Amino acid sequence: MEQHKNLGQEYWDNQYQAQTTGWDLGSISLPIKEYINQLTNKDLRILIPGCGNTHEAEHLLQAGFTNITVIDISPTLVAKLQTKFAGNSHIKIVLGDFFAHEGEYDLVIEQTFFCAINPDLRQNYVAKMKDILAHDGKIVGVLFNKNFTFAGPPFGGTKGSYVELFEPHFHIKTLDCCYNSAEKRKDDELFIHFVKK
Ligand SMILES: C[S@@+](CC[C@H](N)C(=O)[O-])C[C@H]1O[C@@H](n2cnc3c(N)ncnc32)[C@H](O)[C@@H]1O
Repeated sequence: MEQHKNLGQEYWDNQYQAQTTGWDLGSISLPIKEYINQLTNKDLRILIPGCGNTHEAEHLLQAGFTNITVIDISPTLVAKLQTKFAGNSHIKIVLGDFFAHEGEYDLVIEQTFFCAINPDLRQNYVAKMKDILAHDGKIVGVLFNKNFTFAGPPFGGTKGSYVELFEPHFHIKTLDCCYNSAEKRKDDELFIHFVKK
C-alpha cells in the first residue's frame, strides 16, 4: 500500500510559512458562492474545516451570516485569521484538528479539505461529519472528480468512490459535475450536497 506523508500540523504550518499555498483560489469558489447566495436563513450554524484563508467565510460575513466557525490546524494561518477578523462576533476562529473538534452545525462547507487529508482517514471524515452535524445537517461544496498521477495532497477520487463512502450515512442530494468551477479546476470538480441520514 502506498505510504502517505505525515500530514500533521507541522506539514501544513510549513506550507503557510513558506507561502506554498497553491490551492488558494484567491477568492471564494463560484459553485460555493452561488449556493450560499440562495440561502435565506442567515443564522445557520456553519463550519468550514481546513479553512485556509477562508474566502468563503469572508463572503458569508458580507452576506450577513451570523454564526460561522472556521477551523484549521496551522498556527501561522490561524494567527493571521484571528487578527483579520478580530472583534467580529459572527465568526469563531479555531486552531485545532477537525477530527477532535466538538460542536453542532447545520451546514459544513467543503472546499479542498477532504482532498487534503490522508485517504486512510476518509471513513473518519464521514463519521466526524455525521457526529457534528445536527438533524438534517448537510455537507455542501466541491470534491475533485479525478485521481491524480502524483502522490498527494491533493488526493483525488471519483463519483463512484464517493457514493460508496458517503451513501451509508448521507442522503446524496447532489453529486454532479460543476459547470462553474474556477478555470484551473474546470471539468475536475463535483458539486456535493449530502444530507445526514
Ligand atoms: C488544501 S488546504 C485548503 C485550504 C482552504 N480550504 C482553501 O481552499 O484555500 C487544506 C487545509 O486544511 C488544513 N488542515 C489539514 N489537516 C487538518 C486537520 N486535521 N484539521 C484542521 N485543518 C486541517 C490545512 O492547514 C490547510 O489549511
